[in-house]
Amino acid sequence: MGRTVVAGNWKMNHGPRDAEAFARALRLPHNPELEVILFPPALSLSALEQALAERDFSVSLRLGVQNIHWEESGAFTGEQSAPMVAQTGATHVLVGHSERRQIFGETDDDTRRKLAVAAAVGLIPVLCVGETLEEREGGRLEEVLRRQVEGALDSASTREALSENGGFLLAYEPVWAIGTGETATPDDASHAHGLLRKMLQDRLGSDSVDPRRVPILYGGSVKPGNAAELLEGADVDGVLVGGASLEPDSFQRIAEAAG
Ligand code: PGA
Repeated sequence: MGRTVVAGNWKMNHGPRDAEAFARALRLPHNPELEVILFPPALSLSALEQALAERDFSVSLRLGVQNIHWEESGAFTGEQSAPMVAQTGATHVLVGHSERRQIFGETDDDTRRKLAVAAAVGLIPVLCVGETLEEREGGRLEEVLRRQVEGALDSASTREALSENGGFLLAYEPVWAIGTGETATPDDASHAHGLLRKMLQDRLGSDSVDPRRVPILYGGSVKPGNAAELLEGADVDGVLVGGASLEPDSFQRIAEAAG
């Protein structure tokens, strides 16, 4: 896989003014093989997009949102839909992030429906999967990842829409490593990524997105100090960074580690 993806998930941080300040301060390496994707809060997307447009980066820089509803429109106060997001500058969307699953009770079925609606409007989803500590210690890593990947990609029409619209990304985010300071070892990450690549091969088959071309990102307490080592792992095509993506300087250092 050629490109390395460095994605930043700001979660519920950085309003429009903070996003502008981030864009002004951001420095990124000259690396044609690097793809950077930022996931600000939806409220800050337009301010970030405009402020970034005034900068001149030599890397591919994309924007995404952190969540969508599974319906295209309707009486769902406080929610945002995939067709609405498609009218903005966002090209990507996180689907099934563990905080959505754990805190907001999203199920595998919700994730499946969100992936479907994202694919239908041409957004590129980043499907997030990962096991809890209890599941890991119970020896259920493979079973949990398989359930999450196969459940999300269950529908042939979703798989078709994804292949037509530029594919998707997978993010392996062990729940016990998110925001905890605990990081999977490079070997843990490579092992899980190898399992995921195999699952993609089993699930996608030959008529769909080429499973070898689906970038698999690692997420969970990625920092400037551990990013290079994690990125060296087999089948680790990039990183999804939470806390350490909030400061331009630490995000820049992670992007440099990808080079
Ligand atoms: P973290 O979050 O880097 O703060 O652990 C990662 C994520 O949730 O995507």
